[in-house]
Amino acid sequence: MPQISQRTSLFTESVIRRMTRVSDRFGAINLSQGFPDFDPPAALMDALAKAAYTGPHQYEITYGAAAFREALAKKQGSAIGREIDPETEIVVTCGATEAMVCAMLAVINPGDRVGIFSPFYENYGADAMIAGARPVFVPLIEPDWAVDWPALEAAFHDGIKAMVVCNPSNPCGKAFTRDELLRIGQLALSHGAWVITDEVYEHIVFAPRRHERLSSLPGMWDHCLTVSSLSKTYSITGWRLGYMIGPETAVEAARKVHDFLTVGAPAPLQAAALPGLMAGPEYYQGLLDLYSGKKELFMEGLDAAGLKHSVPEGSYYVLADIGDFLDLPRFSGYSDLDFCAWMAEHIGVAAVPGSSFFQHSDSRLMRLHFARSESSLKEAVRRLRRLGSL
Ligand SMILES: Cc1ncc(COP(=O)(O)O)c(C=O)c1O
Repeated sequence: MPQISQRTSLFTESVIRRMTRVSDRFGAINLSQGFPDFDPPAALMDALAKAAYTGPHQYEITYGAAAFREALAKKQGSAIGREIDPETEIVVTCGATEAMVCAMLAVINPGDRVGIFSPFYENYGADAMIAGARPVFVPLIEPDWAVDWPALEAAFHDGIKAMVVCNPSNPCGKAFTRDELLRIGQLALSHGAWVITDEVYEHIVFAPRRHERLSSLPGMWDHCLTVSSLSKTYSITGWRLGYMIGPETAVEAARKVHDFLTVGAPAPLQAAALPGLMAGPEYYQGLLDLYSGKKELFMEGLDAAGLKHSVPEGSYYVLADIGDFLDLPRFSGYSDLDFCAWMAEHIGVAAVPGSSFFQHSDSRLMRLHFARSESSLKEAVRRLRRLGSL
């Protein structure tokens, strides 16, 4: 049989997505793959129903429908504090997932190095390898996920072409401060490198923290590619709408990749998402209030279940410590993946093994998310309490 490519042997299928299948198999409450179990805003569902009859049903402009890009440029321009040109500085993609691949393929050459903070969203490692690059991992140090500055400086010094910053971070919930971003930006400027920010949770940053944008910082526009998405902001992860914003030359390169990869993001869904992009500040405050309530409920529940866990500053993820369970004789020889599969089957709650987010495979953590209805979260916590009697 002919051989498959070497490139695809460098990474595995996503464990996050695999855990959803495990969860479904055992009928567990799925706190693994991060998506809400509640509806998007009614205005988007109404617009989707309308689009079914009025269209568009055919290809849109490959880099995004004009009305979608204009609304996006207005929304993100006011957030970044700079006028964004919808004609030259935006490419609309099939989710932030595709936007990140386009961003990397636009600025990375085979053999380049790409810096990635660890823990990291698992796609980045695969994205770097698809681009032919070598990932260089820079630790975020527990308990508060502080940047390992000497390691970051060494990575820039050794010539990374781009640094990926997930802000706020999936999986650890770190919301980078302005000072941290200034320092990262300074390193990128002085080494002539790119920073690719992934800001899909930009509207889920909990008080007293606030979302800081690297692209807004002095001198950073020309060095920063901002990847984001409508998935989490409007609870439409299945609509596959994301984008990259940045300087014209990089956007032009990313558009070429996007054009030949997917042609375009779904036309009717771009039309249906417009009311979201045009929503006022009260919508985003409502979203944040909703997730702040869920966070509080879930943190209290995990405490009551006796699980040691991180407290996110942003995003909707928690890393919980499963080391004590892995040390029990009954779990002798279990990896974190084995434990999560066991937990889905026997406790009825699905989580993602921590090793999906770290360079090394010996993690003693699991990631849980709280983008679930109040009743699901309460039931999940009730089930997790049973871990206390193991
Ligand atoms: C940090 C991060 N980036 C990107 C994505 C994917 O976003 P999208 O649905 O827009 O492809 C996710 C999804 O969980 C994520 O957590």
